[in-house]
Amino acid sequence: MFDRFRIQVASGQIANLYSNYVLGNMAVFSVGAHAELAAAICDYLHIPVGQMEVKKFRNENTFVRILENVRSRDVYFIQPTAAPVNDNIMELLITIDAAKRASAGRITAVIPYYGYGRTDKKDQPRVPITGRLVADLLTTAGANRVVTVDLHAGQIQGFFNIPVDELTVVPLLVDYFLKKKIPDLVVAATDIGISKKARDVAQRLNAPLTIVEKRRNGNNDMTEVLSVIGDVQGRPVLAFDDEIDTGGSLISALGALKAAGATQLYSAASHGVFSDGATDRICAIDDLVEMVVTDTAPISEEKRNPKLTVLQSCDLLGEAIYRIHNGQSVGEMFTY
Ligand code: R5P
Repeated sequence: MFDRFRIQVASGQIANLYSNYVLGNMAVFSVGAHAELAAAICDYLHIPVGQMEVKKFRNENTFVRILENVRSRDVYFIQPTAAPVNDNIMELLITIDAAKRASAGRITAVIPYYGYGRTDKKDQPRVPITGRLVADLLTTAGANRVVTVDLHAGQIQGFFNIPVDELTVVPLLVDYFLKKKIPDLVVAATDIGISKKARDVAQRLNAPLTIVEKRRNGNNDMTEVLSVIGDVQGRPVLAFDDEIDTGGSLISALGALKAAGATQLYSAASHGVFSDGATDRICAIDDLVEMVVTDTAPISEEKRNPKLTVLQSCDLLGEAIYRIHNGQSVGEMFTY
């Protein structure tokens, strides 16, 4: 999708000019949660990954050292806050603090997957809004900007008093399924909360929308599916969600869709968190043909499965960083 830029910088001359003059004042670091993604982003930008070290002392205190000069530079720290969530958040906060004290010019926290995003409202007595707390911590640490992807709820942007660029991988997922040309496809929102985004997916795929009505069962990870709103009888269905964590929501939704007459089952989600053997449980569903996510959170070898396709988000993030650094529109990336 962002080939324009890759082709331009592929020619050596432009690459040299580009890295020496255009991005000379920029540095992109991998804090450690997703080194592979950080490397792919830097590959897109044709710059080396910045040098830094992160370690834990025997008393479990985290120590960070940025190993190159960042004074007055435009620095980007890549760190999805997936598992181990608390360690990854703490590492990011400490890294931002180090950069601030090293007089970095501007500090951008690139958080492709925003952990605690689901704890975004006080929906029962005496519970926290941890998504907001983490936003406050990032700002207090010294972040000047956040780049993230498909937040659990768009309103989370408002938890920050600094600019937030929320990118979306929906066009990547849609392009992937458009190429598959699945006849008679129906798109299903796995719950009411995701129905607006699922409607966007359905529109782009020129498919009708169905909604699986789901109700959470207390504060545990188990969910209960109530009903399927819409007709899926005799048709293949693409179940869409923002993230797949334990797989409970997806497995229930796919069961309900199957019971309502769906034939082949597909799944697409922006983030593949996959806690506790989720991929194996989901992929054991016979009628599931394919599950597609992106690599905004790291997906280890043990979590991989032949039915799982992982799309790369590096071009999207690299292009956004390029545009932010150069003061260009990020919104234009999504007007297609
Ligand atoms: C919930 O509101 C979200 O949209 C996802 O459905 C949820 O985060 C998925 O979690 P799990 O896979 O654990 O059911």
